[in-house]
Amino acid sequence: MGRKSTIRSALPITYRSPGSTRDGPRDRWWLEDESLIPVVRDLVRIAATRPLSPDADVEVLKENDRKVVLRLVLSPQNGTGAGFIAKVHYLEALRRRMGYRRLCFDEAAATITATGRGVPAPRIAGCGLLATPFGLVSAGMLLQEDLSGCTTVSDLIRSRGRDGKSCADLLERTTPLFISLFEAGCNHIDANCDNILLAGGGGAAYLIDFQHAQFFDRPSAEVLMLEAGVFARSLTLRGLVSEDELRAWLDGLLVAAGVAGGDDKERLARRFDHYRAVSLSRRVRRRVR
Ligand SMILES: Nc1ncnc2c1ncn2[C@@H]1O[C@H](COP(=O)(O)OP(=O)(O)O)[C@@H](O)[C@H]1O
Ligand SMILES: [Mg+2]
Repeated sequence: MGRKSTIRSALPITYRSPGSTRDGPRDRWWLEDESLIPVVRDLVRIAATRPLSPDADVEVLKENDRKVVLRLVLSPQNGTGAGFIAKVHYLEALRRRMGYRRLCFDEAAATITATGRGVPAPRIAGCGLLATPFGLVSAGMLLQEDLSGCTTVSDLIRSRGRDGKSCADLLERTTPLFISLFEAGCNHIDANCDNILLAGGGGAAYLIDFQHAQFFDRPSAEVLMLEAGVFARSLTLRGLVSEDELRAWLDGLLVAAGVAGGDDKERLARRFDHYRAVSLSRRVRRRVR
């Protein structure tokens, strides 16, 4: 299914805020259901002013000059949005405005496709565009389920200290996620330790940030080594794991994927070493098959 039809079938409700003043911002949304309308109205009110108002009911999870990731913590008396994470891409530069479809819809469609193929990821509740009164798109927005009991692998390893046993346990908990990507024929390209979240109480691993993900019709061990290499590289660069921990984790992953037989194991381990040794551009990672 193409991007458009994926979004149309998962997010069938289209919505624009009524009564926006002539010189105020305009918005347009594709939503899972109508109950989200008050949530996106609040989000537009919050996101339309930059810098964000200090008393906005949000927790800023990540912010740079081009995007913010927000946890909506709107209180019941004051708003509606608890339970959602919003990602807002601001499109000031003309070149970025032209790319709004990519910024806004790619992540929504790829996350929906991945979930449909069995990859654990947050539910996409909606995506939307903000435009200036002249109709120029000024922001692309994504609204997704808040995986609120979850913590990134990087934060978990950091907060547990570096005692070998718990680190190995945490790594092992990501294995089913990598297997689900393999079986889904998904090349996420950026499965780093900030994009994998683990549920509390020893629960499942989830993946976020599917903006550049690619899909194929069959599993690829080469792609699995790319994903594993990107993950390992991110952990090593942050000084979070030892070589032995990574080796043990890789061995378990190859067995779980059923690709550890014969010469394959050595060959794939070399591919893993290749992918974790170098920083590859997005373009190159997207082409791995
Ligand atoms: N659905 C979610 N549930 C909980 N936390 C999230 C969710 N989405 C993002 N986060 C948090 O926000 C951070 C940034 O989000 P991400 O989508 O990875 O943005 P970016 O594209 O800038 O990397 C993540 O590392 C994670 O800590
Ligand atoms: Mg990320």
